[in-house]
Amino acid sequence: MPVKILFIGDIIGKPGRQALSRELDRLVDRHRVDLVLVNGENASGGFGLTTETAKELFDLGVHGITSGNHIWDKKEQVALVLANPRIVRPANYPEGTTGRGGMILTTPGGIKVGVLNLEGRVYMKNLECPFRTADREIELLRQETPVIFVDFHAEATSEKSALGWYLDGRVSAVVGTHTHVQTADERILTRGTAYLSDAGMTGSFDSVIGIGKEEAIHKFLTQLPVKFEIPKKDIRINGVVVSVDEESGRALGIERIAVSC
Ligand code: FE2
Repeated sequence: MPVKILFIGDIIGKPGRQALSRELDRLVDRHRVDLVLVNGENASGGFGLTTETAKELFDLGVHGITSGNHIWDKKEQVALVLANPRIVRPANYPEGTTGRGGMILTTPGGIKVGVLNLEGRVYMKNLECPFRTADREIELLRQETPVIFVDFHAEATSEKSALGWYLDGRVSAVVGTHTHVQTADERILTRGTAYLSDAGMTGSFDSVIGIGKEEAIHKFLTQLPVKFEIPKKDIRINGVVVSVDEESGRALGIERIAVSC
């Protein structure tokens, strides 16, 4: 039997969470989903993740939360948030950083799914090498299960594509996040890894990648810091469903999700 994983692209604040609460059950039924993953680094007020928001997502039926560079934004809560075994931050932060980058989740049907979170280095922070970190982490996850989902939180499509090919045949899926713009390049690579450069975002599309248009334009015009508002119009859910053979870990299918709420 294939295991079906629904991955929801970066949830932006309350509008994104509300959309998910309205639509998630329907998506799970329609696609016969076994496991729900979300990128939650922007789920609390557009920046970071609190324990309260994480609980809200888990209560909706989310099984695991990945993140990225914004996971550190709610500084006072981050240690507590990352103590949760169902929440990961990118694995390639320096040794000793709080939290973990990989986790094993179990579907209601008892299938183990490894989840690995990595962050890119092109136009981003100077972290450890995501490629070499992936080698190390995948070896650990593969001791438990061949079904492995990778959220590569990165800016550059070239870096994402390269990691997809680098991990082809060793993981079930490499899906990008962070740009908040869904790409249309989903495919299964030659050795069986499902690939999508970016899953997109879940939030307001009457925005600049999820935040207020006016403030974003002001910031580009002035180069000064601004306080961002989270818009509420034109809410959409972006994500992807990956179907995986549970014995081999090879991807059987990949389908983009884009729902207007
Ligand atoms: Fe990000």
